[in-house]
Amino acid sequence: MSLTPIDFRPPDGSAHKVTTASLHELKVHHEPITCLTAYDYATARLVDEAGIDIVLVGDSLAQTMLGYENTLSVTVDEMLHHVKAVRRGVRNALLVADMPYGSYQANPLNAIENAFRFVKEGGAEAVKIEGGEKRADMIRQIIDAEIPVAGHIGLTPQSVNVMGGYKVQGKNLSGIEQLMRDAIALDRAGVACIYLEGIPREVAAMITAEVSTPTIGIGAGPECDGQVLVFHDIVNLTFGHAAKFVRQYADASALISNAVRSFRADVKSHQYPSDEESYHLPKETRAGLDTVLARKRAMGR
Ligand code: KIV
Repeated sequence: MSLTPIDFRPPDGSAHKVTTASLHELKVHHEPITCLTAYDYATARLVDEAGIDIVLVGDSLAQTMLGYENTLSVTVDEMLHHVKAVRRGVRNALLVADMPYGSYQANPLNAIENAFRFVKEGGAEAVKIEGGEKRADMIRQIIDAEIPVAGHIGLTPQSVNVMGGYKVQGKNLSGIEQLMRDAIALDRAGVACIYLEGIPREVAAMITAEVSTPTIGIGAGPECDGQVLVFHDIVNLTFGHAAKFVRQYADASALISNAVRSFRADVKSHQYPSDEESYHLPKETRAGLDTVLARKRAMGR
């Protein structure tokens, strides 16, 4: 490795530790909350040092990092591996870890035990759980165990097989009613924030006005208290079709691909490494070696 980790320094000296309490402060003061996913040390550091409020180790890492087809296959151990790496890179942001599919649905005890692992082993400060009304009792029990929980309703990717695909939710009256009930149940359960994914802007606005918990939208319009995007989407590292709500801020695919192609071309054409990129013997050793080699040549060896 060519880099020595240096101390974290916010660029403008303004960074401070984000907590679940400060998220509420941000909502009260109408200050938009920012959240990005991160799955490794390097991106976690960049995201944290840029002043993002919440770093989410999303189970979207199933696709972005591990190449799975959807989020259903990723395990608690796989998630923990990434949460630990992200923990080492995050200083100021609130670190939220996604509870993967199968780690909380079976029963509350199992859910609490898995949530403990994310806090004790991974260093997460909150866990995120998909589902509203029907998960509220279990979420309350996790919060009673002193673990903050982030809710997640709307298009919940772990329900892909039940929803019959990734479909925008809350498009008819009964869907809107259900989403309102979900949001209110999570609000009453005392969650730290509610992720609203893939729902009409008007519905997200109603929920945001109704609940005291901060809402964080993804494909849920601008009236949410905050916005989250998947890191790989904003830097174009996801290979597939981008959803309507994704805004691409950089083209890391092109950047990385060009760097790799240039390295390959330089090695193939003997342009890399140059003399300046090579280590050299100290002068005295070099002189000694030249003498030895000259003597050998003189003796015909
Ligand atoms: O897994 C994830 O990245 C998420 C966000 C998109 C909210 O759940």
